[in-house]
Amino acid sequence: MIQVNQVSKSFGHQQVLKAINLTVPKSHVYAIIGPSGAGKSTLIRTMNALESIQAGEILIDGISVHDKKTDINKLRADVGFVFQSFNLYPHLTTVENVAIAPIQVKKVPKKEAEEKARELLSSLGLGEKFASYPGQLSGGQQQRVAIARALAMDPKLMLFDEPTSALDPEMIKEVLDAIRKLAASGMTMVVVTHEMGFAREICDQIVFMADGKIVEVAPPEQFFSNPQSERAKDFLAKVLQH
Ligand SMILES: Nc1ncnc2c1ncn2[C@@H]1O[C@H](COP(=O)(O)OP(=O)(O)OP(=O)(O)O)[C@@H](O)[C@H]1O
Ligand SMILES: [Mg+2]
Repeated sequence: MIQVNQVSKSFGHQQVLKAINLTVPKSHVYAIIGPSGAGKSTLIRTMNALESIQAGEILIDGISVHDKKTDINKLRADVGFVFQSFNLYPHLTTVENVAIAPIQVKKVPKKEAEEKARELLSSLGLGEKFASYPGQLSGGQQQRVAIARALAMDPKLMLFDEPTSALDPEMIKEVLDAIRKLAASGMTMVVVTHEMGFAREICDQIVFMADGKIVEVAPPEQFFSNPQSERAKDFLAKVLQH
């Protein structure tokens, strides 16, 4: 579903992605972990063309993301993206927030798009909040609206960049539960996360990044019990003692 081939990227003189290779098969869940500044966000942002690249190629379901001929709106419809900050439209209700892209981008009739928005919101535990505005919701509720909004486009895969790191601890679980449910439904996903327990539980593979490189890719049980590189051992020693 996702193929990253020899991708390099620099910001000015700083090379932040160094010849990255990664393959994510359909219906698999990959977690990207690693120290701050490793290039995790940059890598995931290249996957839906939020960042350009200088070398290599990324294919999503066979479509080359950075090819000038690629229809970027079509690609973004196929690739759901959920960030740390939810970026909902403050003047639209939850239903309107979820329905707006299908209406505007996919030309789905309003009634149909809003019906589907209500279904998605209900499935994420927001059945009581159809008429609420983002400012009336908790952070965890807003993030679930953001997930519903991405799902409303019927994406082929979902990318998450630290979806819980802006949330209070008591709200993290409800968002992780929503992502867990998606994983169980067979959605292909890449999740940048600092939640090691969560990564361990739901992911097929852990991708450990440091200094712009993928240092290790391994199933969670293997990665957490027997990391191969010094860099990963060092990282785990720091994060797991908390
Ligand atoms: N728009 C930008 N302009 C210049 N440098 C950038 C930009 N975005 C990221 N960088 C730099 O690229 C490097 C990788 O950043 P990135 O955000 O991908 O790291 P990260 O692994 O997601 O870190 P964190 O865990 O803190 O989110 C960092 O050194 C960062 O300062
Ligand atoms: Mg980041």
